[in-house]
Amino acid sequence: MSAITRKAAIILAAGQGTRMKSALPKVLHKVAHLPMLGHVIAAVRGAGVSRIVVVVAPGADAVRDYAEAQGCAVAVQDRQLGTGHAARAAQQALPDFDGDVVVAFGDNPLTTPGTFARAFDGAAKTGMALVAFRTGGGAYGRVIQAADGSFERIVEYKDATPAERSIDLCNAGILAADARRLFGWTARLTNANAQQEYYLTDVPALARADGISPAVIVAPEEEALGVNSRGELAAAERIMQDRLRARFMAEGVGLVAPETVFLSHDTVIEPDVEIEPFVVIAPGVTIGSGARIRSHSHLEGAEIAAGAIIGPFARLRPGAWIGENAHIGNFVEVKNATIAAGAKANHLTYLGDADVGPKANIGAGTITCNYDGFTKARTEIGAGAFIGSDTALVAPVKVGAGAITAAGSVITRDVPADALAIARGTQSEKPGWAKAFRERKQQEKK
Ligand code: UD1
Ligand code: MG
Repeated sequence: MSAITRKAAIILAAGQGTRMKSALPKVLHKVAHLPMLGHVIAAVRGAGVSRIVVVVAPGADAVRDYAEAQGCAVAVQDRQLGTGHAARAAQQALPDFDGDVVVAFGDNPLTTPGTFARAFDGAAKTGMALVAFRTGGGAYGRVIQAADGSFERIVEYKDATPAERSIDLCNAGILAADARRLFGWTARLTNANAQQEYYLTDVPALARADGISPAVIVAPEEEALGVNSRGELAAAERIMQDRLRARFMAEGVGLVAPETVFLSHDTVIEPDVEIEPFVVIAPGVTIGSGARIRSHSHLEGAEIAAGAIIGPFARLRPGAWIGENAHIGNFVEVKNATIAAGAKANHLTYLGDADVGPKANIGAGTITCNYDGFTKARTEIGAGAFIGSDTALVAPVKVGAGAITAAGSVITRDVPADALAIARGTQSEKPGWAKAFRERKQQEKK
């Protein structure tokens, strides 16, 4: 592989994030169920990056563990002396690296792979690229251009004059350049500024002094959104959800009221799935073509085959596997259970740790009693079995294919195929008892 095709990324994540008011480090807060840092890692990988260094503060073990689990190297910035100082700290983790590197922020989850790719392209052409965006205001660094429109320098908001602050071209914070040259420039930074920090934003002016004319890549404003507070986290979530919805609709998924459907970064939905309003999809969900997810359903860790109907008001929990054309209806909860093709559980049911055979019919109010307070046990229901309403299936237990359980039964022993199992109190009638009872009570009232 030629050196020129090698790409690395430095993701800065050593900031304090105090405004989140959270015990969880800021970059581990999630957007569409993925930590913000995970979004940045995925975006730079999408732009062809093969080596990533995440810069963390001393003691940030949770961030370190997450970064390492994602296959990134970690560099510790011993003190938080600014973004330029943080980028420099990454050098220890890239001693042998020869190629272009992009510097990104771990708390900017919305930058797309396309924008990172444009930054790399710009750096390949001119020697350096920085990403900017246009906005009406805010305490961002401003990009100062020369009369001919070429890049001159970045001025941080706190150091800017009122005239500079009125410039609408702002620095997004992303910078791409040859790694060795970048570390050369970061080593030359000083902190003679309003915040007494080593600013990464001074690097492009150093490059310019070395004869490089940095490329300015203008990205959509939303891609530059940094998250510093819970409010900004919610704003990032809104944008990410809109992106996911738009992507699925473009791929042929029907969303009647997209703004009410919540998706996860890893959701997989095939074309011609219809999703009704007010559906929440948590991580690990796959939905096959032609399936219909009806209103007010909550899905997590579930695989739904083609043509199945889920909801309204269904809850699928991790390990739910719903076969083709199966129906899971209102107030039905499924956990760690396989529901084979064409089976139906339409009302008020809990199926946990169960295997339901094809075309079995699960009556209203059926409960698998899967937990004795210590261990879980499985329930097996054979093909075409008919579970009468309000059956309690005390696991471990098997109901054979084609068997029927009488309504209201508490099934504690296996039921052979094609048998009827009745396990409930025998009914008796006392003629006239109710009438006599009423008359006696009315008499007592007088
Ligand atoms: C930075 C830019 C500013 C730009 C803005 C865009 C600088 C000097 N300024 O400002 O021009 O408009 O982003 O959002 O770069 N970090 C460290 N170690 C440090 C300091 C920061 O790892 O010592 C990390 C933070 O965790 C964060 C990122 O670097 O992820 C940016 O730092 P932040 O303090 O948010 O910079 P801004 O003041 O927003
Ligand atoms: Mg910031």
